[in-house]
Parts: sequence; C-alpha cells; structure tokens
Amino acid sequence: MRAWQVSELGEPDEVVHVAEVAVPDPGRGEVVVQVLGGAANFPDVLACRGEYQVKTPLPFTPGLEACGSVVACGDGVRGFAIGDRVLGMTVPPHGGFAEFATLNASATFPAPPALDDREAAALLVAYQTSWFGLHRRANLKAGETLLVHAAAGGVGSAAVQLGKAAGATVIGVVGGPEKVAVARDLGADVVVDRHQEDFVTVVRDRTGGRGADVIYDPVGGDTYHRSTKAIAFEGRLVVVGFAEGRIPTAKLNHPLLKNYSIVGLRYGLYHGHDPAAVGRCHAELTELARDGAVRPLVERMTFGEVPAGLRRLADGETTGRLVWAP
Ligand SMILES: NC(=O)c1ccc[n+]([C@@H]2O[C@H](COP(=O)([O-])OP(=O)(O)OC[C@H]3O[C@@H](n4cnc5c(N)ncnc54)[C@H](OP(=O)(O)O)[C@@H]3O)[C@@H](O)[C@H]2O)c1
Repeated sequence: MRAWQVSELGEPDEVVHVAEVAVPDPGRGEVVVQVLGGAANFPDVLACRGEYQVKTPLPFTPGLEACGSVVACGDGVRGFAIGDRVLGMTVPPHGGFAEFATLNASATFPAPPALDDREAAALLVAYQTSWFGLHRRANLKAGETLLVHAAAGGVGSAAVQLGKAAGATVIGVVGGPEKVAVARDLGADVVVDRHQEDFVTVVRDRTGGRGADVIYDPVGGDTYHRSTKAIAFEGRLVVVGFAEGRIPTAKLNHPLLKNYSIVGLRYGLYHGHDPAAVGRCHAELTELARDGAVRPLVERMTFGEVPAGLRRLADGETTGRLVWAP
C-alpha cells in the first residue's frame, strides 16, 4: 500500500514522502481499516516537527484520525465486523495518511449514517474536543455568550456548531474575510475579523460591557492575554491549544481580581479516565448530526495533495478540516 511517511523531523511538506509499505496487521485491541477519509489535525503538523506532546518513533505515518472500512480485527476486539464503516483514533505508526490505517478499537465508533466519509473522518477529534471543552470543562449553559477563537478552523468550527446547539450566543474570531463568511455560515451570531477589529471591544460592546461567559482558545499567545480582558464575572477560559506558537504565562492575580476560571483541556485523556463519557459523547454527536445541528466543515484533498495541505494547515490557511479521500 501507499503511505505518507515521516523519516526525519521538520516542516511537514518537506519531510513527508510516499513509501510502499505492507498493510499493517492488527495488534490486540486494534482494527485495521481501508481508509475512506483521513483528516489533518494541527497536532499532525506538530508531530512532523517533533513538537507534539506525544512523541512517535521514526518512521511513522501521520494522521491522527480516520474514517474507514474494517478489513481486520485484532484479538480482544468486540463489536466490529469486516466491512463496518467506522471512525476512530489511529495507532502510531500507522496513521490516516495511507491507504490502510490501524485504529484503537476502544477509540473507534460507528460512522454516523447522516455523515459522508469525509465528514465522518472529521468528527472525532474536533467535535469531541469541543464537546468536552464546552460541556464538561466549561459547563456552558443556554443563554450564555461563547467566544470562539479560530472559529473557522478545525476545533473552532466544531465549537461554533456545538455552542449554537447548546443555546449560546456565539461570537467567532477569525483571520480574513473568507473566514468571516465561513464562520457566519457555521452559525456564529457575530464574527470578528481579527485583522480588522479588536475582539475585546466587540465582545464588550455586544455584552453590554459584561464579557463572554465562556472563551474557547485554541490559539494561545497574545490571544490568551487579550481574552482575559474580554471574560465575564465567573467566566471560564478554556485552554485548548497554542496554534499561534507561544505558550502564554498567566498572572494569577487576574483571575482572583475578576472571579474567572482558567480551565485546561486535553481531550485524549478522557479515553483513559472516562471512556464511557467518550461513548456517550459520540452517541450525542451522532444524534446532533442526524438532526442537522452538527455537520463537519470539510475541505477535500487527494492523496497526492497531503504535503501541500499540511503546509496550508501549518500556515493557518485552512477552513474546517482538510480530509484526504481516495
Ligand atoms: N486540547 C486538546 O485536546 C486539543 C485537541 C485538538 C486540537 N487541539 C489544538 O487546537 C489547536 C487548533 O487545532 P486545529 O487542528 O483545529 O487547527 P485549525 O484551527 O484548523 O488551525 C489553526 C487556526 O489557528 C489560527 N491561528 C491564529 N494564529 C495562527 C498562527 N500564528 N499560525 C497558525 N494558525 C493561527 C488560524 O485561524 P484564524 O486565522 O482564523 O485565526 C488557524 O486556522 C491546535 O493548537 C491543536 O494542537 C487541542
């Protein structure tokens, strides 16, 4: 089979190369799928650079998540049969940028019938991250104001749809006019182009000076610091990621003075700490997809376009999720 592989670390478009490799055999608790859609997540960029929290020995095929058709099940796998259309987290080194990938059966679920292969490939990481961020960590309530950074991006676009589904007023922050249109189409009530406007001023204006109850921040750096000026009394600022490249340092007198919480989120931990909640989340997302409240925004790419796609993702130029499909 053909697989994109990383044999040395660096910028993704410079280090991924096509290799002809054997279709993997499933280990215990794993399923092997023929890939129908492989999504590109920002952590794939970080993994190519060797900057992701979880280090994978070289060589490896990137691609954190995929939708595929089951071709083999390892020992101990229950509930899946050959030919099932599933989505799941890949097991390194056999990621989703290949014709076949290995999935961790405990992080694998039936693909929702309401979603096509590309959409299903983009559901797990972005939507579960945003669901756990908004509901489990920030306890978002109907009627509250939610500010979403990178609102046209992968996890951000999911947060906009899930925020609307939860009955929140959603303010999205994006970079550039095309992304403004995308965030509006996703359902954001107010969209701020960060190149043109100061989101702190917009949030204050729109909330009568109160600020946003929940801030969802996958960007970090100065975006984090500015966000602390736009958060409401008893607000919750969810630290999701650092796409901007810098990890901010919090001054802890500030949450004390303003009565807000800084909550961290690492979605992957729920697979170990509370796998039942991950399953419940997937069931809820499947229902939301059936009802039309959730539909992943997908940019399609071919197998050959994976390096250029990862470059665009690294440069912040993509909207929603880039997904390669055969
Ligand atoms: N905590 C978790 O469990 C978890 C899970 C998944 C992902 N994440 C993290 O969430 C973040 C977003 O991941 P994603 O895959 O969904 O990516 P993404 O949102 O599709 O891409 C990142 C977005 O960040 C914005 N951005 C602002 N400054 C940027 C800069 N200097 N360089 C690049 N982008 C910049 C861009 O949007 P605008 O130009 O519109 O602002 C860009 O589109 C990443 O840091 C990722 O590691 C965390």
